[in-house]
Amino acid sequence: MGRIICAGLGPGDPDLMSLRADRAVRGAKHVAYFRKVGRFGMARRIVDGMLSADATEYPMEYPVTVEIPVDDPAYNNALAPFYDDWADRLETLAVTEDVVVLCEGDPFFYGSFMHLYERLRGRAEIDIIPAITGMSGCWTATGEPITWGDDVLTVLLGTLSEDDLSTRMASTDALVVMKTGKNIPKIIRALKRAGKYDDAWMIKRGTMPDQEIHKISEMDDDENPYFAIIIVHGKGRRP
Ligand SMILES: C[S@@+](CC[C@H](N)C(=O)[O-])C[C@H]1O[C@@H](n2cnc3c(N)ncnc32)[C@H](O)[C@@H]1O
Repeated sequence: MGRIICAGLGPGDPDLMSLRADRAVRGAKHVAYFRKVGRFGMARRIVDGMLSADATEYPMEYPVTVEIPVDDPAYNNALAPFYDDWADRLETLAVTEDVVVLCEGDPFFYGSFMHLYERLRGRAEIDIIPAITGMSGCWTATGEPITWGDDVLTVLLGTLSEDDLSTRMASTDALVVMKTGKNIPKIIRALKRAGKYDDAWMIKRGTMPDQEIHKISEMDDDENPYFAIIIVHGKGRRP
């Protein structure tokens, strides 16, 4: 009997992967990973050069990503059968051999694997390998600590409404905003309303070879990548 092993790969730099994830990836005979149609896939990119020559790859291509708003019922209607189908396929593979599912960052932190996990629990043996999150890689890249003393850290998703974003931004000390991409103009308006704009940083592709770190108020490009995180550092109690 095999297992489904979800390997958290960390924020991007393969050197930041755990020993356990490294072992799982290098030893895998079956490797599955999510990607957008027509893309290589971020998780697959992280492990490039690490897979064994006889590994079989299973790209799981999302039927939809940003084309449909997340609150439109059509979004879930497209994704549910996709996750059902891949859960069935991974369960079948794992009857005889281990299957490693690659996951950027930590699998249980807004990871797509959770939708497979929910379907496969009780049907297959599942191991989850935790990892350094993308946000941790990003705030470390800025060279400034994220929280001090009793600072409250709030993690927001760019898919929230501008009103929700600005209300929650205004009431926190330290801030992380994920799922940025085409939501960036809305997030910037919310930062301004919350009085946090001047202290906000954007980290694009944190810890990856093409990492960029910008103070948002000094940014002079309008590239809005999906792999970008906005950070406001806490300023809390210090001796
Ligand atoms: C679906 S969530 C996955 C989070 C992941 N499981 C983790 O632990 O960080 C994807 C979002 O995470 C953020 N993200 C993850 N890794 C990142 C990185 N290395 N640099 C910038 N943003 C990153 C981006 O905001 C992106 O839109």
